[in-house]
Amino acid sequence: MAVTDTLLAYVNGDYVPRDQACVPLTDRGLLFGDSVYEVIPAYGGRPFRVTHHLDRLDRSLAAIRMHNPLARDAWGAMFDHLTAQLPGQDQSVYLQVTRGDYPVRRQAIPAQVKPNVFAFNALLPQRSPAVAERGIAAITLDDIRWHRCDIKATTLLANVLARAQATEEGADEAILVRDGQVLEGTASNLFIVSNGLLITPPDSPELLPGVTRDLVLELARDGGIPYAQAAIGVAELDSADEIWVTSSTREVTAVVTLNGRPVGNGSPGELWRRMDALFQACKERLRLGGDCHDD
Ligand code: PDD
Repeated sequence: MAVTDTLLAYVNGDYVPRDQACVPLTDRGLLFGDSVYEVIPAYGGRPFRVTHHLDRLDRSLAAIRMHNPLARDAWGAMFDHLTAQLPGQDQSVYLQVTRGDYPVRRQAIPAQVKPNVFAFNALLPQRSPAVAERGIAAITLDDIRWHRCDIKATTLLANVLARAQATEEGADEAILVRDGQVLEGTASNLFIVSNGLLITPPDSPELLPGVTRDLVLELARDGGIPYAQAAIGVAELDSADEIWVTSSTREVTAVVTLNGRPVGNGSPGELWRRMDALFQACKERLRLGGDCHDD
């Protein structure tokens, strides 16, 4: 039996076996994608940068005209309950808040509707040093998503299709391009290294303000690595010395081929090596019961 089969999920205040956890057919998250989510890694069972994730959840909810249905301590208690099922292990917690279910299917937001909240955890596969050292392949694709990608909404069909195309082309991630500007991956933020400068596109409605991205910027600042938040054009991406993608599940991953051509010398670069060491040290501090920066 897989470990996940025995785990309990959280649904609206109850902990239930995962295969019995459900929301109604008329849930607006299902019918309209009217819902937001977070994915929070927990290293050694301890949630990573949880305040940042909950702050972003608040911003996503406010942007879709919802209030957070749970107080911070209730979220914290839920994360403790879920992660205690995989004691001391590296895992991720997925949470979703939907606008709720309403018996009549219509787009107008009902005046009276109660959010559905659910969450579950799963093991995070151990990152093998060999895989990290190998890096990944990426392709570039036109960004066909909406103009509020700063909201962590569950309406991810454009991301799913871009990722499918990447897979078809033998790549692990698609880097999305809008009006000649490189924005982010289908499920990750983007960094390039150009002449020793670390660059990530600035915050905007066109990309998700990633929690991992913010940590990388903090680590760069504290580690004396020159960095900038600046627009990146396709030509700059093509000529970058290094390309990285970052996310809560991918950490800081080097892209070693772009559209079938090597990035730099075709293996993870020197700055990636430095940043990865800083990032791993941060995780380790958390595992040992300390803090990673301000969280
Ligand atoms: N996705 N951009 C997009 C479009 C994402 O979906 C994600 C993360 C990120 C990175 O954000 P963070 O560092 O906060 O994880 C950027 C999660 C992991 C997912 O959907 O599974």
